[in-house]
Amino acid sequence: TTTLRLGIAGLGTVGTGVVRIVQRHAALLAGRTGREITISAVSARTRDKDRGVRLQGYEWEDDPVALARRDDVDVFVELMGGSDGPAKAAVEAALGLGKDVVTANKAMLAIHGQALAEQAEARGAALRFEAAVAGGIPVVKALTEGLAGNEITRVMGVMNGTCNYILTRMEDAELPYDEVFEEARALGYLEADPTLDVGGIDAGHKLALLASIAFGTQVDFGAMKLEGIERISIDDIRQAADMGYRIKLLGVAQMTGRGLMQRMSPCLVPADSPLGQLEDAMNMVVLEGDSVGQIVLRGAGAGEGPTASAVMSDIVDIARGTRLSTFGKPAASLSPVEKATTSTP
Ligand code: NAP
Ligand code: HSE
Repeated sequence: TTTLRLGIAGLGTVGTGVVRIVQRHAALLAGRTGREITISAVSARTRDKDRGVRLQGYEWEDDPVALARRDDVDVFVELMGGSDGPAKAAVEAALGLGKDVVTANKAMLAIHGQALAEQAEARGAALRFEAAVAGGIPVVKALTEGLAGNEITRVMGVMNGTCNYILTRMEDAELPYDEVFEEARALGYLEADPTLDVGGIDAGHKLALLASIAFGTQVDFGAMKLEGIERISIDDIRQAADMGYRIKLLGVAQMTGRGLMQRMSPCLVPADSPLGQLEDAMNMVVLEGDSVGQIVLRGAGAGEGPTASAVMSDIVDIARGTRLSTFGKPAASLSPVEKATTSTP
């Protein structure tokens, strides 16, 4: 068939963003893929809700599993969230029928990604998740395509915009953690469960996915050394600034002689470095390869436009028939007591 028919489960920030791009850029996407990309059916919790986007002409399913199973859905796009429950059930249903899946759900992938990737491989289906790591920054594609000729030596970065906003505001406005946390809430930055953000868990999920792609290992979130920003005080930030540093929630993954080291924790970075100068809710990912050296990617890690942009890139890849294997094989995982060398860019 020349038409690629989508079923979109989840019509919140990201889902409506994807609907908007499919509608706005129909001609551009057809030109780039040689195929028409259409939406057959959608699903969300509440049917009668004004989402500020045109949904007429799309079939409605209350149940995302039913959506995944529809005959007129070629690609199942999961944008509901949640590590278990309906998101996982619907993705499994789609993969079980050999349908390609695109998701932005880092929480689900960090826990169940390996099993889902194996199910996808067994059924000859694609499981794509560019939007799950660093939102609009095409970091999965940078690793799997752009740097395919490199042995990756290290992956690091700031991967949670909320934490970067909180730490930056604490320093710039000299405000205490609690006050800035409430600001972040008012700006809508926080996950429904804010512990995922400030506890470093969301960023840890993203790093676990990147590490597995970079080093060809199994996704192993459980082996990550994790520390959030809840205990960072304004005094810590002032002391760091006096010495020419800023505190960032920094993730580092690298292969050591004893296995994969993964760590997500508050770190001192030089104030005049690219990481030190990362403001607001921005993300930055630093990739190191044996041939390319170090590359730095900076951009919006969240929000409707950036995240939908990443989801669309996966849909376009599927329309073009691009096949990529992402997650790797099981490998020794190092309980990261050793310090990684942290020369920051
Ligand atoms: P959101 O605004 O909360 O939207 C979630 C959508 O899923 C809503 O439309 C909701 O329906 C629907 N939904 C929830 N449970 C459902 C169920 N049981 N059955 C059917 N529909 C259900 O979330 P979001 O911010 O768009 O995030 C979606 C996914 O993208 C998550 O995995 C998130 O981690 C990931 N992500 C988000 C961002 C971002 O910037 N927002 C960035 C990167 C990745 P109702 O609208 O009817 O309640
Ligand atoms: N809460 C996440 C963040 C959203 O602040 O980065 C994007 O994954």
